[in-house]
This record gives sequence, structure tokens and C-alpha cells, in this order.
Amino acid sequence: MKIPVTLKVNGETYDLMIAPYRTLLDVLREEMRLTGSKKGCDAGDCGACTVLLDGKPVNACLVLAATAQDREILTIEGLARNGKLHPLQEAFVKEGAVQCGFCTPGILMSLKALLDTNPAPTLEEIKIAMAGNLCRCTGYSKMFKAVESLDRGM
Ligand code: FES
Ligand code: FES
Repeated sequence: MKIPVTLKVNGETYDLMIAPYRTLLDVLREEMRLTGSKKGCDAGDCGACTVLLDGKPVNACLVLAATAQDREILTIEGLARNGKLHPLQEAFVKEGAVQCGFCTPGILMSLKALLDTNPAPTLEEIKIAMAGNLCRCTGYSKMFKAVESLDRGM
């Protein structure tokens, strides 16, 4: 059985027919072809699938797509605007904070949520915001440096 669901993703509206048990992550990746949000564990452990739902970071693998109806969803594909990278993305590139990149979309979304409410976080606050995002490559320190390098009036 499929049900009609309307999802607002990165400012665009998608009218879909989907099974009620499908997760937001699977619908983003398989129906909309927005594959920037990664499927690491599919169990809420790694944070690779993090997107913003009404401005708050969530694990898209734990959210049923139907429950995101009519809410604002922001994925990594919506972070750059008008062909220009978000300052966080630029800072990650500049500081070399990306290695394999699998964790990067989720981490950037968690950090965006932090900076939207707290433009000048302390190192401790940055660590707390990233606590649900695992990275097996970088050791995290270059990511912390990238956030700390940002213009705090952003
Ligand atoms: S894929 Fe969602 S938390 Fe790992
Ligand atoms: S850069 Fe490879 S998992 Fe983070």
C-alpha cells in the first residue's frame, strides 16, 4: 500500500506516493535522487544521514518520511546557495577537514544547526553538536579548526 506524502526539501515541494514504512533517508536517496545524505548504519548510530527538519538535526534513517510531511527539510544539497559554497563548506575545504567524505554531509548539517542558533560556539559546544556524527578518518581536529576559523559574525 502507498500513501500520498508531500515533502518540502531544500525549498522545493515533492508530491510522492510512498509506502508508509519508508524512511526519510531512503525516500531522499531513492525517490528524489538526493544522495548526499549517506546511509552508514541505517540504525541511528553514525550520523551520516543527518538532515535538518524544521532547523533541527535528525537522523533521516530514523524518521519515517510520512511524518516529515509539510515540514521544512534541508539536506546537504541545499547548503550551497546560487552556486556558492556555504562558509562552513569553504572552511572544511580550506582546513583539509575532509578525507573520504562519507561523514562530511552529516557533520556539516549538524554544524549548520549549531551555527544557526549559536554563531560563536566554544570548542566544547562544537564537540557536543557533533557528538552524534562519527568520522573514522580525520580525528576531528581539522573539523574543529574549520569551525573555529569562521567569521563569528556569520
Ligand atoms: S545512517 Fe542514519 S545514523 Fe547511521
Ligand atoms: S572523512 Fe572519512 S569518515 Fe569522516
